Amino acid sequence: GPRAGYSGRMTAEITLHRGDITQAEVDAVVNAANSGLLGGGGVDGAIHRAGGPAILEACRELRRTTLPDGLPTGQAVATTAGDLPAQWVIHTVGPVYAKSEDRSELLASAYRESLRVADELGARTVAFPAVSAGVYGWPLGDAARIAVSTVRTTGSAVREARFVLFSDEVYDAFARADESSG
Ligand code: AR6
Repeated sequence: GPRAGYSGRMTAEITLHRGDITQAEVDAVVNAANSGLLGGGGVDGAIHRAGGPAILEACRELRRTTLPDGLPTGQAVATTAGDLPAQWVIHTVGPVYAKSEDRSELLASAYRESLRVADELGARTVAFPAVSAGVYGWPLGDAARIAVSTVRTTGSAVREARFVLFSDEVYDAFARADESSG
Protein backbone atom coordinates (compact mmCIF):
# COMPACT_ATOMS: atom_id res chain seq x y z
CA GLY A 1 0.00 0.00 0.00
CA PRO A 2 0.98 3.69 -0.03
CA ARG A 3 3.82 4.60 2.30
CA ALA A 4 5.73 7.66 3.41
CA GLY A 5 8.89 8.54 1.54
CA TYR A 6 7.57 7.01 -1.65
CA SER A 7 10.26 6.28 -4.18
CA GLY A 8 8.50 4.01 -6.66
CA ARG A 9 8.00 4.54 -10.36
CA MET A 10 4.46 5.92 -10.40
CA THR A 11 3.98 9.49 -11.52
CA ALA A 12 1.02 11.78 -10.89
CA GLU A 13 -1.61 12.33 -13.55
CA ILE A 14 -1.36 15.97 -14.67
CA THR A 15 -4.57 17.96 -15.00
CA LEU A 16 -4.95 21.62 -15.97
CA HIS A 17 -7.60 23.88 -14.48
CA ARG A 18 -8.28 27.57 -14.93
CA GLY A 19 -9.16 29.33 -11.66
CA ASP A 20 -8.36 30.27 -8.09
CA ILE A 21 -6.19 27.72 -6.28
CA THR A 22 -7.59 28.71 -2.87
CA GLN A 23 -10.88 27.04 -3.89
CA ALA A 24 -9.28 23.77 -5.02
CA GLU A 25 -10.74 20.67 -3.40
CA VAL A 26 -7.54 18.69 -3.07
CA ASP A 27 -5.51 17.23 -0.23
CA ALA A 28 -2.75 19.82 -0.51
CA VAL A 29 -2.33 23.21 -2.16
CA VAL A 30 1.17 24.39 -3.10
CA ASN A 31 1.99 28.01 -2.28
CA ALA A 32 4.50 30.05 -4.29
CA ALA A 33 5.97 31.62 -1.16
CA ASN A 34 9.14 33.56 -0.40
CA SER A 35 11.93 32.44 1.94
CA GLY A 36 10.55 34.47 4.83
CA LEU A 37 7.33 32.42 4.82
CA LEU A 38 5.38 35.28 6.38
CA GLY A 39 3.16 36.12 3.44
CA GLY A 40 3.33 38.34 0.38
CA GLY A 41 1.40 39.21 -2.76
CA GLY A 42 0.15 37.03 -5.62
CA VAL A 43 -0.99 33.52 -4.85
CA ASP A 44 0.78 33.69 -1.45
CA GLY A 45 -1.38 36.62 -0.38
CA ALA A 46 -4.51 34.91 -1.71
CA ILE A 47 -3.78 31.68 0.22
CA HIS A 48 -3.16 33.53 3.50
CA ARG A 49 -6.30 35.64 3.05
CA ALA A 50 -8.55 32.71 2.20
CA GLY A 51 -6.99 30.30 4.72
CA GLY A 52 -7.08 32.67 7.67
CA PRO A 53 -4.58 33.30 10.48
CA ALA A 54 -3.82 29.62 11.25
CA ILE A 55 -1.47 29.43 8.25
CA LEU A 56 0.57 32.47 9.29
CA GLU A 57 0.69 31.17 12.84
CA ALA A 58 2.10 27.84 11.60
CA CYS A 59 4.64 29.68 9.43
CA ARG A 60 5.76 31.79 12.39
CA GLU A 61 6.19 28.59 14.42
CA LEU A 62 8.41 27.14 11.66
CA ARG A 63 10.54 30.30 11.74
CA ARG A 64 10.85 30.03 15.53
CA THR A 65 11.87 26.36 15.39
CA THR A 66 13.20 24.49 12.35
CA LEU A 67 13.60 27.36 9.87
CA PRO A 68 15.03 30.39 11.72
CA ASP A 69 16.66 31.66 8.49
CA GLY A 70 13.63 30.89 6.37
CA LEU A 71 12.98 28.33 3.64
CA PRO A 72 15.75 28.14 1.03
CA THR A 73 14.88 28.51 -2.66
CA GLY A 74 13.91 25.18 -4.23
CA GLN A 75 12.75 23.60 -0.96
CA ALA A 76 9.25 22.96 0.45
CA VAL A 77 7.56 22.70 3.83
CA ALA A 78 3.98 21.94 4.89
CA THR A 79 1.56 23.69 7.25
CA THR A 80 -2.11 23.46 8.02
CA ALA A 81 -4.40 24.89 5.32
CA GLY A 82 -6.55 26.68 7.92
CA ASP A 83 -9.96 27.45 6.44
CA LEU A 84 -9.14 26.28 2.90
CA PRO A 85 -10.91 23.19 1.52
CA ALA A 86 -7.48 21.52 1.34
CA GLN A 87 -5.93 19.84 4.35
CA TRP A 88 -2.41 21.19 3.93
CA VAL A 89 -0.51 24.03 2.32
CA ILE A 90 2.89 23.06 0.95
CA HIS A 91 4.97 26.23 0.83
CA THR A 92 7.74 26.27 -1.72
CA VAL A 93 10.09 29.01 -2.90
CA GLY A 94 10.77 29.28 -6.59
CA PRO A 95 13.79 31.16 -7.91
CA VAL A 96 13.60 34.77 -9.08
CA TYR A 97 14.18 34.77 -12.86
CA ALA A 98 17.64 35.92 -13.92
CA LYS A 99 18.77 36.44 -17.50
CA SER A 100 22.42 36.13 -16.51
CA GLU A 101 22.11 32.73 -14.83
CA ASP A 102 20.19 29.51 -15.50
CA ARG A 103 18.10 28.84 -12.40
CA SER A 104 15.93 26.14 -14.02
CA GLU A 105 17.22 23.47 -11.65
CA LEU A 106 15.96 25.46 -8.66
CA LEU A 107 12.52 25.78 -10.23
CA ALA A 108 12.44 22.03 -10.96
CA SER A 109 13.52 21.44 -7.36
CA ALA A 110 10.58 23.49 -6.04
CA TYR A 111 8.17 21.08 -7.81
CA ARG A 112 10.13 17.94 -6.86
CA GLU A 113 10.40 18.92 -3.21
CA SER A 114 6.69 19.80 -3.10
CA LEU A 115 5.87 16.30 -4.36
CA ARG A 116 8.25 14.79 -1.82
CA VAL A 117 6.53 16.67 1.01
CA ALA A 118 3.15 15.61 -0.41
CA ASP A 119 4.31 11.99 -0.21
CA GLU A 120 5.41 12.49 3.41
CA LEU A 121 1.94 13.85 4.21
CA GLY A 122 0.17 11.08 2.32
CA ALA A 123 -1.49 13.64 0.04
CA ARG A 124 -2.92 12.03 -3.09
CA THR A 125 -4.25 15.13 -4.86
CA VAL A 126 -2.09 18.26 -5.03
CA ALA A 127 -2.83 21.64 -6.64
CA PHE A 128 0.07 23.70 -7.99
CA PRO A 129 0.18 27.34 -9.11
CA ALA A 130 2.61 28.51 -11.79
CA VAL A 131 5.53 28.90 -9.38
CA SER A 132 7.87 31.84 -10.21
CA ALA A 133 5.70 32.92 -13.17
CA GLY A 134 4.34 36.04 -11.44
CA VAL A 135 6.30 38.46 -9.26
CA TYR A 136 9.44 36.33 -9.73
CA GLY A 137 9.40 37.08 -13.43
CA TRP A 138 9.88 33.77 -15.25
CA PRO A 139 8.99 33.72 -18.94
CA LEU A 140 5.72 31.82 -19.04
CA GLY A 141 6.72 29.20 -21.61
CA ASP A 142 9.87 28.25 -19.70
CA ALA A 143 8.06 28.19 -16.35
CA ALA A 144 5.32 25.96 -17.81
CA ARG A 145 7.74 23.54 -19.51
CA ILE A 146 9.83 23.11 -16.36
CA ALA A 147 6.69 22.62 -14.24
CA VAL A 148 5.11 20.02 -16.51
CA SER A 149 8.28 18.08 -17.32
CA THR A 150 9.38 17.95 -13.67
CA VAL A 151 6.04 16.69 -12.40
CA ARG A 152 5.86 14.22 -15.27
CA THR A 153 9.25 12.70 -14.42
CA THR A 154 9.18 12.74 -10.61
CA GLY A 155 8.19 9.46 -8.97
CA SER A 156 5.47 9.99 -6.38
CA ALA A 157 2.43 8.40 -4.79
CA VAL A 158 0.45 11.56 -5.68
CA ARG A 159 -2.38 10.50 -7.99
CA GLU A 160 -3.31 13.89 -9.41
CA ALA A 161 -1.11 16.95 -9.85
CA ARG A 162 -3.57 19.69 -10.69
CA PHE A 163 -2.15 22.90 -12.11
CA VAL A 164 -4.59 25.67 -11.22
CA LEU A 165 -3.83 28.58 -13.52
CA PHE A 166 -5.10 32.05 -12.85
CA SER A 167 -5.47 33.45 -16.38
CA ASP A 168 -6.09 32.22 -19.92
CA GLU A 169 -2.56 33.22 -20.86
CA VAL A 170 -1.00 31.05 -18.14
CA TYR A 171 -3.44 28.22 -18.85
CA ASP A 172 -2.55 28.26 -22.55
CA ALA A 173 1.18 28.16 -21.80
CA PHE A 174 0.68 25.07 -19.61
CA ALA A 175 -1.58 23.44 -22.21
CA ARG A 176 1.16 23.87 -24.85
CA ALA A 177 3.82 22.53 -22.47
CA ASP A 178 1.60 19.55 -21.62
CA GLU A 179 0.98 18.73 -25.29
CA SER A 180 4.59 18.98 -26.33
CA SER A 181 5.96 16.93 -23.44
CA GLY A 182 3.18 14.34 -23.38
N1 AR6 B 1 -4.80 31.02 -7.74
C1 AR6 B 1 -3.95 30.54 -8.66
N2 AR6 B 1 -2.94 31.25 -9.19
C2 AR6 B 1 -2.77 32.51 -8.74
C3 AR6 B 1 -3.58 33.10 -7.76
C4 AR6 B 1 -4.64 32.29 -7.25
N3 AR6 B 1 -5.48 32.75 -6.31
N4 AR6 B 1 -3.15 34.38 -7.54
C5 AR6 B 1 -2.10 34.58 -8.36
N5 AR6 B 1 -1.86 33.46 -9.10
P1 AR6 B 1 3.13 34.86 -7.88
P2 AR6 B 1 5.94 33.96 -7.84
C6 AR6 B 1 -0.85 33.19 -10.11
O1 AR6 B 1 3.55 36.24 -8.11
O2 AR6 B 1 6.17 34.48 -9.20
C7 AR6 B 1 4.65 36.66 -3.56
O3 AR6 B 1 4.69 37.99 -3.10
C8 AR6 B 1 -0.17 34.35 -10.79
O4 AR6 B 1 -1.02 34.89 -11.79
O5 AR6 B 1 2.04 34.59 -6.91
O6 AR6 B 1 6.47 32.61 -7.47
C9 AR6 B 1 5.45 35.72 -2.69
O7 AR6 B 1 5.39 36.08 -1.32
C10 AR6 B 1 1.05 33.65 -11.41
O8 AR6 B 1 0.69 33.01 -12.63
O9 AR6 B 1 4.38 33.92 -7.41
C11 AR6 B 1 6.83 35.87 -3.23
O10 AR6 B 1 7.49 37.00 -2.69
C12 AR6 B 1 1.38 32.57 -10.38
O11 AR6 B 1 0.24 32.50 -9.52
C13 AR6 B 1 6.60 36.07 -4.72
O12 AR6 B 1 5.30 36.60 -4.83
C14 AR6 B 1 2.61 32.86 -9.53
O13 AR6 B 1 2.71 34.25 -9.30
C15 AR6 B 1 6.64 34.78 -5.48
O14 AR6 B 1 6.53 35.05 -6.86
